[in-house]
Amino acid sequence: MTSTTLSAPTRSFLHYLSRRANPFKHRHHQAGVTHFVRCYYESGKPATGCQSESARTIDLRSDTVTKPGPLMRRAMSEAKVGDDVFGEDPTVNELQKQAAELFGMESALFCPTGTMSNLIAVMVHCRERGDEMIVGDLSHLHIYEQGGSAQLAGVHSTTVTNFPDGTFDLDQLESKIRHGYPDAHYPRSRLVCVENTHNIQGGRVLPLAFLKELRSLADKYGLMVHMDGARVMNAAVTLGVPPSTILQHCHTVSVCLSKGLGAPVGTMLGGPQDFVKQAVRARKALGGGMRQAGILAAAGKLALSDMVGRLQKDHRNARSFAQALLQCDSPVYQVDLAAVETNIVRFRVCAEGISPAELCERAAAVSEDEERALGQGVRVLMFPHVAGSVRAVWHVGISKEDTQLAAQKMQFVAQQLTRERARAH
Ligand SMILES: Cc1ncc(COP(=O)(O)O)c(C=O)c1O
Repeated sequence: MTSTTLSAPTRSFLHYLSRRANPFKHRHHQAGVTHFVRCYYESGKPATGCQSESARTIDLRSDTVTKPGPLMRRAMSEAKVGDDVFGEDPTVNELQKQAAELFGMESALFCPTGTMSNLIAVMVHCRERGDEMIVGDLSHLHIYEQGGSAQLAGVHSTTVTNFPDGTFDLDQLESKIRHGYPDAHYPRSRLVCVENTHNIQGGRVLPLAFLKELRSLADKYGLMVHMDGARVMNAAVTLGVPPSTILQHCHTVSVCLSKGLGAPVGTMLGGPQDFVKQAVRARKALGGGMRQAGILAAAGKLALSDMVGRLQKDHRNARSFAQALLQCDSPVYQVDLAAVETNIVRFRVCAEGISPAELCERAAAVSEDEERALGQGVRVLMFPHVAGSVRAVWHVGISKEDTQLAAQKMQFVAQQLTRERARAH
């Protein structure tokens, strides 16, 4: 018996999600092949409701859920501060210098969030209302930032089709560049945005060769290249290169401190000095000028100096979880191991009638059966993701042991589903 104690609104929301996100309701057949219809806008939140008091919780929903540890908290409490809007916060200034050096860029700016940092980049690169940016159709900027570029910056977007590895076709990109300016019919192409690692595509690392070719195409047409590098440190670790080797191919970058790097808040926006001067103005206009922000920047400094090296552990754990999914006795999960390059695992559930949201609910629930079988209750929290998949993300809060427990739980859920299916037939 499952001892779930989900609230009525949560249950009804999950029911809604399961109906919306059920891949079996969204797929269509073509020449005997099953295709999942892209439903990128329908991913939702699963249950996080607590069941057994003693159950262990393994939170794989996102790498944004990390909490600062004692060292980080101490650095924060001891940080020297000043008014950063006056440029007088020494800790912020140090962080900005540290980030610029690491990125191999002239300058960097501490911003509250990745969303704001991306928006500032768009605003500074695209100065005239009606300027246009070209962006991947599955990029965070395009899908998850509420259309801020249009809504707040008056910038028009056109998309290129993201491939499963996060890249796109450079011929398609070239075909999207407007050549009509100053003909009054057309916007003016100004900017190309890439995402590295690519979140929706499962933490994929953009190949350096792709970035190099992209940059020479952009240079040919006088376009700027901005990288949403929220997780570019993960990319650098996987490629075994310093971040500057990746970032040499773009003009500007946005790098989150509050994801795999474990800081509570903050994103660094890097670029040329002139760009950052303008970015300071845009940040203030958006309400992102913070005062004694050194308290936050102290965590950011540690994130950049101490947390990059450990990302490799997250990548190893993510991979071993993906392998464990494939090795389950019951073949319920589908995962492309070659696509697990960093700290994100995307997998499909191939059990009849089970939607990603329902799978997440089962993984988050603890039952007496499970406690008997595994000797302990384990709640694995994950999000239903796009195109009928589930996403799990590794971070500093997840150990190798947690990963093994999570894998055991997934095995238990797979057996449960197989038994239920056998009983139903
Ligand atoms: C690729 C990418 N870019 C930007 C963001 C936005 O960051 P924030 O949540 O700090 O606004 C995220 C957040 O998950 C992300 O995954």
